[in-house]
Amino acid sequence: MTLIERLRDLLGSTGLISEAAEMSPYLSDERGLYQGIAACVALPRTTEEVAQVVRICRAEGYAVVPQGGNTGYCGGASPDGERQVLVNLYRLNRIRDIDPIGFTATVEAGVILANLHTAVAESGLFFPLSMGSEGSCQIGGNLATNAGGLAVLRYGTAGELAMGLEVVLPSGEILDCLTPLRKDNTGYDLKSLFLGAEGTLGIITAAVLKLFPAPTEHQTAWLALPDTESVCKLLSLARSLSGDTVTSFEYISQASLQFVTSQFDDIQCPFTAQHPHQVLMELSGPLAVESLRPTLESILAQAMEQGLVTDGVLADSDRQRRQLWRIRESIPQAEKLAGGSVKHDISVAIARIPAYLAAAPERLAGIGAYRASIYGHIGDGNLHYNVLAAAGGDPQAFRQQHAAGASGALHQLAAEMGGSFSAEHGIGKLKKEDLAHFKDETALQLMRALKKTLDPENMMNPGKML
Ligand code: MLT
Ligand code: ZN
Repeated sequence: MTLIERLRDLLGSTGLISEAAEMSPYLSDERGLYQGIAACVALPRTTEEVAQVVRICRAEGYAVVPQGGNTGYCGGASPDGERQVLVNLYRLNRIRDIDPIGFTATVEAGVILANLHTAVAESGLFFPLSMGSEGSCQIGGNLATNAGGLAVLRYGTAGELAMGLEVVLPSGEILDCLTPLRKDNTGYDLKSLFLGAEGTLGIITAAVLKLFPAPTEHQTAWLALPDTESVCKLLSLARSLSGDTVTSFEYISQASLQFVTSQFDDIQCPFTAQHPHQVLMELSGPLAVESLRPTLESILAQAMEQGLVTDGVLADSDRQRRQLWRIRESIPQAEKLAGGSVKHDISVAIARIPAYLAAAPERLAGIGAYRASIYGHIGDGNLHYNVLAAAGGDPQAFRQQHAAGASGALHQLAAEMGGSFSAEHGIGKLKKEDLAHFKDETALQLMRALKKTLDPENMMNPGKML
């Protein structure tokens, strides 16, 4: 039997795609950077089927490329060879358990993030991972890329929310670390090997995730600030005065806001005047409704007294809150509609962000005319310093000519400041050279040794990361 026959035998005719036209949506990536090639697309329904797919591929000399919602930015789920089998996990999508006493959910890799939000909300619980792609990204992909998003400041990254994992190893064995134990000091923390490994060490098939009491109140403000030092001081003040209930603290430059308002007719600026630096700050908590409003007001009164905040809009209804969030969440799409940007995803210690922002324009001087769209999760020290062609310029030609120069300059600056060139978007194919260049050599050697030990034949997501 051929590989395709063996896989069809295992998965049934609905579990295997080998026609080019039907495979096509799985092969192109979210940003259109890569057009993938694969022998076929396997759609297993159970962990045991995933393990068997891996065993068959191994026996037949094929590599395996795991894929979740295919929303990543770095090509980490794009196959690129006739001897690669794409394993998409969307049919492995059961919520196995929600435990309201231990505050955990046991879910399979293909569960869509927004569906998990809905399911746990029905039990009065809350899963805090949140991002623009939540309607299509999947838990397995979130964990494999250690996704960040909009509430990391308070609740942590996807990886920090994972208590246990079930993983199919390149050998085809199933590693069962699917425990809900908060305390388990019985040797190496093996699950952490697979968090952020982008499927290069195994396929995450299920996870035990931390849940929280559902917030009953959100207090949301859109604020104008005079400079980036004030942004950092406001974050510190707000965390101290709010009992650490600041859930999100997002930075939006005037330029990013303008991309949004010029692309979307139905989105208005929160302010009539222009302000170079703006912040979307949200406090939330599970206590009595309205208990956080006075807290927010007192933070803002002090911030204004200290000159940290010059203007502000407080959301008075859930509708207004959603409108404010829509502005922030529309920035990536607005950039896309404006012709696309060279995306960056750097992080530095929060206190060094003003210095980073001050130094960056000089570093970019070599690329000629451009427009910067700077926004991001400043509460996590994570900025998207995106670079677009100057108004009237050709976006595609600009990216072709200047992507390498702009990224090299901004990544180098982050490295000089002890930061990261990839805070939350991962490595995939796109940032492999950066990893080789910027990562500590001892760390790289350890990563290569781990890869060799777990995957000596390099059959698991080859060509990604290392
Ligand atoms: C965001 O924060 O909106 C994303 O991580 C960046 C993007 O989608 O470009
Ligand atoms: Zn982001």
